[in-house]
Amino acid sequence: MSLISHIEDFDLKDQRVFIRADLNVPIKDGKVADDYRIMNALPTIRYALDQGAKVILASHLGRPEGPDSKLSLAPVADVLSEILDVDVFFTPELLSDVPFVVSPSLKKNQLILLENLRFHPGEKSNDINLAKELAKNVDIYVNDAFGVCHRKHASLSALPGCVSKKCIGYLIQKEMEMLDRVRDNPIHPLTVVLGGAKVKDKFKVILKLIDHIDQLVIGGAMAYVFLKAQGYNLGNTKAALEELSLAQELMERMQVRKKKLYLPLDHMVVPDVHRVDLLKSTESAHLPDAWCAVDIGPQTCEYFSKAFETAKTIFWNGPMGLFEIPDYATGTRTIAENIGQCQSAFRVVGGGDSARAIFHFSLDKGFDHISTGGGASLAYIQGSELPGLQNLESHERPEAVV
Ligand code: 3PG
Repeated sequence: MSLISHIEDFDLKDQRVFIRADLNVPIKDGKVADDYRIMNALPTIRYALDQGAKVILASHLGRPEGPDSKLSLAPVADVLSEILDVDVFFTPELLSDVPFVVSPSLKKNQLILLENLRFHPGEKSNDINLAKELAKNVDIYVNDAFGVCHRKHASLSALPGCVSKKCIGYLIQKEMEMLDRVRDNPIHPLTVVLGGAKVKDKFKVILKLIDHIDQLVIGGAMAYVFLKAQGYNLGNTKAALEELSLAQELMERMQVRKKKLYLPLDHMVVPDVHRVDLLKSTESAHLPDAWCAVDIGPQTCEYFSKAFETAKTIFWNGPMGLFEIPDYATGTRTIAENIGQCQSAFRVVGGGDSARAIFHFSLDKGFDHISTGGGASLAYIQGSELPGLQNLESHERPEAVV
């Protein structure tokens, strides 16, 4: 049984509540370009404010090597202040006296936002000294940053270890409930669709789910190692050949279990990724010498759609091609549309590039859950221990607030 508490388990009134959120949003020309992650972080922040907590909010943004004005959370402070209608006191120094001095006098519609946690080298190295400094201003620690739960960073791992009252917020609760419905209790038939890179991680997903999966669809960069294992030419297309023997083993395991495996029947190819003008489809799954695949082909789109017809649960992670280039986006868009039409299935997208693609095509309404974590959702589905959830476990649950 999970011993992780929930934010509603604590009395937050007048407590300094540190909320570790994932506010890692794209910034363009100094402004937030996409507020999806901010919107998902709101329920926990709003709840804490409504309960009279003194909220200290923290996040990373991007992957800075040190302080970098382009990756400041200042634009996020502006958006938060506007959509929550609160005063946001932004602290440009991550470690300063501001939270200590300001937090006791915060009023109901005021909160503190710390600068990008990754500006401090101790965040990524899980530095206990950084954690202790942050903990000085924390009565209750809330992790609501699902997207980084697979990272062993100070604000996610060392910090909750320094605080006795700790819990998750609404975003992580929802992620766990939704992903559990795929990982632990899928309604059958379960169709799993995998594409894109991070092949090794996605193999782990297949291994974890292999007894649950009814139909496995593999496209995009992920497919080529399987096609190689079946003896197809790859032309100039890069494949994760270091995983060749595992691909062979997985195909055998699927066959023994009589599970259906869908691989591309054709591809969209170019001699060079910049030669959009020469784009053509292949006649078979063989790739011509000196050409490389940039998308799945039309026969494959039709073939893959059959895997969704009877599905009751669909989990998708990874695009079918280089969807950021409009001419190479048809396969990914078609998969998103086909899944979106399966209204009787429970449809989950595991964050990362496939989530970006869905928003890019404005097809998000066709999904029951779009995870806020790419790597984190893969790690969760694989059943890996997530560092961001480990130090949250307490031996006793707090008494429920009445
Ligand atoms: C994400 O963007 O997927 C999360 O915020 C994690 O970011 P990271 O991969 O830089 O740790």
